[in-house]
Amino acid sequence: MNNSPAIQGKPGQLIGIGVGPGDPGNVTLRALDALQSADLVIAPCSAPDTEGRAEGIVRQILPDIECQRLIFDMSPGETGVQARSRGAKRAAETLLAPLKEGKTLAFVTLGDPNIFSTFSLVAREVTKLSPSVEIRTVPGIMAFQEVAAASGLNLLDETEKLFLVTAFEGIDDVKESLQHPNAAVVIYKGGRQIGRIREALEQAGRLDGAVVGELLGLDGGQITMLEAITEPKISYLATVIAPPLRKKGAH
Ligand SMILES: C[S@@+](CC[C@H](N)C(=O)[O-])C[C@H]1O[C@@H](n2cnc3c(N)ncnc32)[C@H](O)[C@@H]1O
Repeated sequence: MNNSPAIQGKPGQLIGIGVGPGDPGNVTLRALDALQSADLVIAPCSAPDTEGRAEGIVRQILPDIECQRLIFDMSPGETGVQARSRGAKRAAETLLAPLKEGKTLAFVTLGDPNIFSTFSLVAREVTKLSPSVEIRTVPGIMAFQEVAAASGLNLLDETEKLFLVTAFEGIDDVKESLQHPNAAVVIYKGGRQIGRIREALEQAGRLDGAVVGELLGLDGGQITMLEAITEPKISYLATVIAPPLRKKGAH
C-alpha cells in the first residue's frame, strides 16, 4: 500500500536545471526558458543568507528572478553519503507542499543535473514521498567540458575512452583508471586530495599534460598544470584531467 500523501488535482513537476559550472554564458536557451516558465525557482545553499553557486549564475542572467533557497546543511558529526541523504530528505519534505499545489519547480544545479548532482538525490526522495510528481531534467554543460575547452585539450579521439571518477572519499578509483593508457581520466571532488592525486599521476607516468581547472567561471577561476600545484589541498570546485597517453605530435 502506498502511504504517501495524496496529491489533489494535477501533480506538480520538479525540473532539475543544469546551469553549467560557472560562466553564465554556459546557461542554455532551454534552461533559460524553463527558469522563466517555472512557478518557483529553487536554489540550494548552505545558509539562508548565503547565495549558492547555482543561484549566483542564474542571477547574472535574470537579476530580478525570485529564488527560494533550500538549505543543505551538514549536521555536525555526519559525513559523506549519510549527510547528503539526510539533506536530500529534508529538502524533499520542503518541496512537497508547492508540488502538492500543482506547481512547477525549477531546481538549479551546477553543471549537469544527472552527473553527481544534489538534484538526483532530492528527486529520488520526492518520488518516494509522492510518486505521481513528474521529474524532468534540462541538461547543462559539465565542469570537465569547460576545463577541456579552457585548457585547449582535445579530450578524446578515435578509440580513446573516458573515465569520470571522484576522489572525495579516497583515490583508489583514480589509481585504477590511470592504468588504462588510452583513456582520459577526469577527476571530480579531488580538491582535498590534490597532493595524493598528483603523486598517483606521477607514479603512473601521467603527470605530463595533466591540467587542473579550479572555480571555472567563478571568482578565482584558473587553469593550472597539475605539476605546478604544490599545495596538499585546493578548492572543492576543482577538476583534474589526465589526457590519454599519446605519441608526441599525435594530436
Ligand atoms: C557535485 S559535483 C557537480 C558536477 C556537475 N553536476 C557537472 O555536471 O559537472 C562537484 C564537482 O564538479 C566539479 N566542478 C563543478 N563546478 C566546477 C567549476 N566551476 N570549476 C571546476 N570544477 C567544477 C568539481 O570537480 C567538483 O568537485
